[in-house]
Amino acid sequence: MSRRNKIYEGKAKVLFEGPEPGTIIQYFKDDATAFNNQKKGTLSGKGVINNIISEHIFKALGDIGIPTHFIERLSMREQLIKAVEIIPVEVIIRNIAAGGICARLGLEEGTPLPRPLVEFCYKSDELNDPLIAEEHILTFGWADELEIEEITHYALRVNDFLSGLFSGIGIKLVDFKLEFGRLYEGDDYATVLADEISPDGCRLWDSKTGEKLDKDRFRRDLGGEMEAYQEVARRLGILPSADVTEIADHIKKDS
Ligand code: CDP
Repeated sequence: MSRRNKIYEGKAKVLFEGPEPGTIIQYFKDDATAFNNQKKGTLSGKGVINNIISEHIFKALGDIGIPTHFIERLSMREQLIKAVEIIPVEVIIRNIAAGGICARLGLEEGTPLPRPLVEFCYKSDELNDPLIAEEHILTFGWADELEIEEITHYALRVNDFLSGLFSGIGIKLVDFKLEFGRLYEGDDYATVLADEISPDGCRLWDSKTGEKLDKDRFRRDLGGEMEAYQEVARRLGILPSADVTEIADHIKKDS
């Protein structure tokens, strides 16, 4: 683990001061939580896999013109990112009904939605990330109208791109969560994609079998979490040839 000053420790990641002003090191832990921290566990090697999956996806999104906080991957568990002010709104994009929306609207899991649905939640662990409307974001000043427009536009572009990417490797992108931040450049600032994109924050189903390849394996005690995460990385063509548990053990000894 980095010996730099810790800025923040979250459920799955730690942020450290970066080498230059305006940079941060994002360290991916093996800790897994669900149901707002009520269920906790450790998935050996998860941080390593999520680091490389998120790197791969953020680079690809950068290549299609979506601004992100990503600079470069530094090690098996660390990436260098730009310091941003996180907008306290979680953006959920859904293509198929699963999870929260099923209970809320009485939908059967697996029902395709007529069109991609963008939802907003207020980012607050204490309040369990409640679903909010655009009006709440504006009323409480969490983001302005232009930012909401940009966030929605980027979210739908990310969805289009990732749906295609995953469909090409036999995976359905059911839903996922994005976070955005403000990147300050002098007096001005730009909206950029932040946080991570990995099986921790996506629902990914095998196109043929419907097998879950995401954090629902952990949430629902299905087992085989790391095999599923590795399978996603393998299909993306980014899994290092060595077994990830071996890599994780190696890193633990190093740190
Ligand atoms: O299943 P649950 O009710 O916890 O959440 P959801 O609103 O159905 O989640 C939609 C998608 O966003 C899933 O892929 C979740 O993994 C992801 N999500 C997340 O990564 N972090 C959150 N705080 C909430 C949702």
